[in-house]
Amino acid sequence: MALETLARRDTADAAFLADVHAGLALPQKALSPKYFYDATGSRLFDRICRLPEYYPTRTELGILKARAADIGACAGPHAALVEFGSGSSEKVRLLLDAMDAPAAYVPIDISGPHMREAVARLAGAYPRVAMVPVEADFTRAITLPPLEARGRRLGFFPGSTIGNFTPEAAQDFLAHAAQVLGRQAAFVVGFDLAKDAAVLDAAYNDAQGVTAAFNLNLLARINRELGADFDLAAFRHRAFYDPVPGRVEMHLESLAGQTVRIAGQAIAFRRGETIHTENSYKYAPARFATLAAAAGWQVHALWTDPRHWFAVALLEPAGRGAGPTASGAT
Ligand code: AVJ
Repeated sequence: MALETLARRDTADAAFLADVHAGLALPQKALSPKYFYDATGSRLFDRICRLPEYYPTRTELGILKARAADIGACAGPHAALVEFGSGSSEKVRLLLDAMDAPAAYVPIDISGPHMREAVARLAGAYPRVAMVPVEADFTRAITLPPLEARGRRLGFFPGSTIGNFTPEAAQDFLAHAAQVLGRQAAFVVGFDLAKDAAVLDAAYNDAQGVTAAFNLNLLARINRELGADFDLAAFRHRAFYDPVPGRVEMHLESLAGQTVRIAGQAIAFRRGETIHTENSYKYAPARFATLAAAAGWQVHALWTDPRHWFAVALLEPAGRGAGPTASGAT
């Protein structure tokens, strides 16, 4: 492996270790969901997306299929498609197919190898689209490389990844994206809608236990990459919907009093104590629009599915022409 690659990996490991130590020192132990996605975690997440109980992926895909032409028309000719967090190449193809002579595809992702693989596959199918992968953590400040695209920038943030942010952090992210994408932008954001708790509980506690494996893989990853000794059988997956903040929380619960060593440091767990591993916020459309407006965006269109389980917003910089167009079931 090239020295440069090794150095980058060392830096990433050091940041991971620092985050793990800091998170497990909190009164409510916590780890960031961005660390779910190593190679194993990414594969498990792909399996989650195909689970019968996990409706978001296929519901969003249905909305995007029905509205791809509208999105392509809004982007206009020679636009650059900028995706925050890549991996969903099926959704990207849908947009590229609907766009008029797209000039560039700019995926931004912390997982370099995973992203480069996806880009290599796309490059074969879209030889005229410049592939400009950016290896970066999009939850932090980023700058895009200069893009030659003559057209608009079409931002794309699908999958309700925005639900991992608290509403305050989501607003900050949307404001940052507005700066990155510029005045000539459009922004497609997928978000999950508040709904019946039973539907959400099933989606995050699937019968096959794939979500549990996805959650527990975070501990396996810490063992693998940071030389820790988590006993995976001594923790269990827990997920529940709290309608007050409007979020699903995922936790890993310690089944016993135990001590875990991570890079030489001992961390004590009480029986029943949890590590909070994910928030997944669910929004009402109006609440999302308010959040977007506070971040400098206006809702150009808001589309949902017949059950109103998921929504896709098409945003434009505030103060750019007409207000919302019709919303409703596809
Ligand atoms: C990728 C953050 C949208 O919150 O539903 C799936 C991740 N966690 N099952 C979500 C996830 C458990 C997912 N997001």
